[in-house]
Parts: sequence; structure tokens; C-alpha cells
Amino acid sequence: MSKGISREKLEEIKKKFDEKISSVKNSEDLENLRIAFLGRKSDFSLLLRGIKDLRLEQKKLIGDFANKIRKDIKGIIESKKNELEGGEVDNEWIDVTAPGEKQEIGHLHILSQTQKEIEEIFSTMGFEIADGPEIDNEWYNFDALNMPKDHPARDMQDTFWLKQEAKNEKGEKQKLVARTHTSNTQVRYMEKHKPPFRIIVPGRTFRYESTDANHEHTFSQFEALVVGDDISIANFKDIAEKFFTLFFEREITVRLRPSYFPFTEPSFEFDISCTVCDGKGCSSCKNSGWLEIGGSGMVNQRVFEAAGYERGKYQGFAWGFGIDRLAMMKYKINDIRLFAGGDLRFIKQF
Ligand code: DAH
Repeated sequence: MSKGISREKLEEIKKKFDEKISSVKNSEDLENLRIAFLGRKSDFSLLLRGIKDLRLEQKKLIGDFANKIRKDIKGIIESKKNELEGGEVDNEWIDVTAPGEKQEIGHLHILSQTQKEIEEIFSTMGFEIADGPEIDNEWYNFDALNMPKDHPARDMQDTFWLKQEAKNEKGEKQKLVARTHTSNTQVRYMEKHKPPFRIIVPGRTFRYESTDANHEHTFSQFEALVVGDDISIANFKDIAEKFFTLFFEREITVRLRPSYFPFTEPSFEFDISCTVCDGKGCSSCKNSGWLEIGGSGMVNQRVFEAAGYERGKYQGFAWGFGIDRLAMMKYKINDIRLFAGGDLRFIKQF
């Protein structure tokens, strides 16, 4: 091609391109055509070098026109490419008898599964599921549960205190804690609801303590609260036995031992008959026939007062236990740290 760039020469190139493109049959032809028309050694590129010799006003005009031609050619190549690729997919042969690729499907963590299972059982017994905050002020986590600042029972729960403070609804400054138990939701719920009611509160809880096979700083608890006019500890025993029998799918009996919690009076620790030997005595229950589960008791009237109920008007029971511990018993897991350890070999078993 003779030297010197002009509008006519550019048009000529485009015309040639239009002729050639119609005979392109596959991606290889197309790539060759692209190189021939837009490549470094193409007529088009050679012509462009002449732009620098043009006068100033011509430079802009011809330059713009050359750009337009390049854009047009590129666009046509692109759509031809799509057309060819589309065609190639259509022609692709698929062996429908070949074994498929296995898709990995995720599933709920064993603790979530256990929590769901517990929720389902309680739902069939007419319980509502309530929710409370994981970061709460010290009033709901301690004071409202009959644990004022100087109460020694606060030492029973090693607490993560937050650096910042927050104002409560009355505008008073309150220290914040990572809740040490799901009992923080008792008074929160009672402030908004009048008895009779029965609720469960599942959720994460936190303790500032060193970890071992039976202790984690982050674990899950379960709170049950039943309040009405004539609730007694016999109701608790009955509901607890029904629940554990359904959960462990075997006949379970519950036994109470006197204990102390500030928020209940009287208070009990409760055990269930061993889920391995049904109470006969084995290594799992250290030959006692019983497994320790959690705490319970009749709601202390001071807690009702903190919620704004009239003293002596209602009665209720409360109980709490660790979901992790129940899952460990049911699925024979021997180390609580496995739950959040991140080892997929453990997670995938359930
Ligand atoms: N909140 C107690 C704890 O974390 C457990 C507990 C004991 C809950 C007795 C209760 C109860 O509702 O009545 O140690």
C-alpha cells in the first residue's frame, strides 16, 4: 500500500475487511483475520504511522476517522466470535451417561442442629422461643437477677467486661458485658409480657476462663422460663423428663439436688439418669447412674419485682443448661473445643 494516510485508504481497508469476514468459518480464521487487519504489521497499522506527517487540522479529522474504523472492525470481530462460540457449544457432544461431578453441599453445624432439635421439642410442648442480646448491660445480666454489684455470686461467673459503657432506657450509664448466661433474657422478656407464658431462650454465652476439654470461653446455653399463677417444681420435673426423653430417645428420669442461685429460691442442680447405662452405673456416669446437666429453681420474687411484677402475684420456674454439653452427650463428643475448632473432618461427621 502506498504511503500516506487518507480517508479513502481507510475506507478501502474497511471494505476489504467486510468482504473477508463473510468467509470466516471458525475461530482460527477469525484470529488470522484480526491479525491481518489490526495486527502490528497490518496495512491499517502502517497507515496510522503516516498521521504524524499530516497538518494539524487533518490530524484530528483523520485520526478520529481511523479510530472509528478500528472500533467498527473490532466490534464485528467480537460479534463474530460470539456467534462462532455459541455455535461451537451447540455442536458440543454431551455424554449423559458419564458420572456427574459431586457437588459439595454445606449443612448446619452440629450445635445449630442440636439447638434446632431442642427448639422443635419445646415448640411441641407449647413453648415460645425468645431472643436476647449477646452484649448486654450489667443490669440484665446481674442486678435484675438479684446479683447486685457487691454480691459474691458474681464471682461464680468469670465475666468479659467491655471497655465502653452504654446508657440504658432511663439514661443511666451501664457497664456492658458479653452475657455470661442466657438468663439475661428473663427480665427483658418479662418487662414486655404478662404471665402466663412459657419460653425458651437458646443462644451464645461467654465466660472469661481457661479452656479445656469441658470448658470453652464461648458456648451455647438454653434457658427455660415458665410463669403463671400456680406453677410448681413438680411441673418443672415433669417437663424436664418429657424433654430429655424425647431428646435422647430413651426413658429419662430427672433428679434434683439442693443448690444455690441468686435468681431462684429454692434452687436446684438437676441430673438425668445416665444416657449410656440407664442408671445402672457405667464409666460415663462414674458408676453413679446420673449425669449432671444444669441449674434450676423457682423464680426468686426479687426477679419478678425487677421486671415490674407485683411481689407474690406469680410463680414460675427457670432452668438453664449448656447446649454443647447436651450435644457432647448425645453424639459422644469428648472435647468441647472441637465445636469451634474449625476442623472440617469433625464438622463433616454430623
Ligand atoms: N444461669 C445459670 C448459669 O449459667 C444457669 C441457671 C441456673 C439458669 C438456674 C436458670 C436457673 O434459669 O434457674 O450458671
